[in-house]
Amino acid sequence: MAKNAPSFRCSDCGALHSKWSGRCDACGQWNTIVEESPLSKTPGSGMGGAKGKLIQLSALDTQEAAPKRALAGMPELDRVLGGGLVQASAILVGGDPGIGKSTLLLQATAAFARKGLKTLYISGEEAASQVRMRAARLGLTDAPVGLGAETSLRDILTTMEAERPDLVVIDSIQTMWSDRVESAPGSVSQLRAAAHELVSFAKRRGTAVILVGHVTKEGQIAGPRVIEHMVDTVLYFEGERGHQFRILRAVKNRFGPASEIGVFEMTGTGLAEVANPSALFLSERGQPNPGSAVFAGIEGTRPVLTEIQALVAPSTLASPRRTVVGLDSGRISTILAVLESRCGIPFAGLDVFLNVAGGMKVIEPAADLAAAAALLSAREDTALPADMVIFGEISLSGALRPVGQAENRLKEAAKLGFSQAIAPAGTKAQGATGMALRKLGDLVTFTGEMFGA
Ligand code: TYD
Ligand code: MG
Repeated sequence: MAKNAPSFRCSDCGALHSKWSGRCDACGQWNTIVEESPLSKTPGSGMGGAKGKLIQLSALDTQEAAPKRALAGMPELDRVLGGGLVQASAILVGGDPGIGKSTLLLQATAAFARKGLKTLYISGEEAASQVRMRAARLGLTDAPVGLGAETSLRDILTTMEAERPDLVVIDSIQTMWSDRVESAPGSVSQLRAAAHELVSFAKRRGTAVILVGHVTKEGQIAGPRVIEHMVDTVLYFEGERGHQFRILRAVKNRFGPASEIGVFEMTGTGLAEVANPSALFLSERGQPNPGSAVFAGIEGTRPVLTEIQALVAPSTLASPRRTVVGLDSGRISTILAVLESRCGIPFAGLDVFLNVAGGMKVIEPAADLAAAAALLSAREDTALPADMVIFGEISLSGALRPVGQAENRLKEAAKLGFSQAIAPAGTKAQGATGMALRKLGDLVTFTGEMFGA
């Protein structure tokens, strides 16, 4: 490549291209190729920069190294943040439009403000009067939050420089535009530039910034994934539109465990915290039904029980339907294949529907056995005992593999009134008192014992 020739990189898959084009050949995405500036503007003269300052790791004071944290007093939020808001950290909160991000962050900002933090809430989407109306609905009008309705990054940074707040919320990063970049607001380069400037400000001035990002299906606006690598913490706010439950999930956290969740309920007066999600997710369960199995799961550091529901019906289609909501459809295909080839239970000619009740998403492999139980229960039209929880990973050979934190899973189940559990052989659970625990080695034994198949 010629010296100083520009290089282009796909912001989605990272593939390098020698020239710009509308579509990335490597991943097939449109409008993702952006120009990259070269590492050094003066080729041939070494790297051309000044030598940086090095600190010995051993010379670091551990007291100094521990990040300063502030608690919002909203336990569901504080836990997902890894134990409170870290000073000078950058946080991305992504989610579908309309899921409740602005509501959550306005509540969070007010909570931090009431704890004595100096906070700014900058909305690029709503006028200040609209934000105030929302605040009135949420009962937050008396919270000492600085409100701004602004989209120009330069003005926002000037305000932040003058005010020196402890926390700034930018709602949303896709509406911000930097005059240093030519392209339109919402484009990949604008998004990156705006995020970069705000994150650098956070690090330099000790301000925590929370960036709101709309998840976009496809189209003109770049999604929040483009800036995930720039921030310390990435949270996604998810939930089904038809359900009032909302889950705040940590997918990356430099200051705490990832995969931690916080559960909220959308009410007429904002988001209410749900301290006991298991009870909520199981509250719709009535009489024992064929096709229902309770999975004892772990989300981050907390046990959460969910109901997995299956429906199996004769199909009129040449390739029967496999509809999976809230679980990994790839894993479900595997489980169906294992049931078919290891246990001799065919699902050919049958439509299969699987769903996690309450709009929850379960990504743990430990849910395999509960999904299999729900499928079998639906197929045999036989209900599982109402007081039974199930967990375990299924391997391709049909063996059941033990999963972590069995004791926590069983304790939570016992607390909620469950009295029997099925888990893989090799499960270590000393503290499972009051729980009839059956340990099974493989899926064949499981299906035999459960349904006499
Ligand atoms: P919003 O926070 O504006 O979503 P986002 O910022 O993610 O786009 O929330 C939008 C939805 O939340 C809207 O459909 C109305 C509902 N809502 C309530 O049910 N109760 C409330 O108190 C508020 C403020 C909003
Ligand atoms: Mg919003």
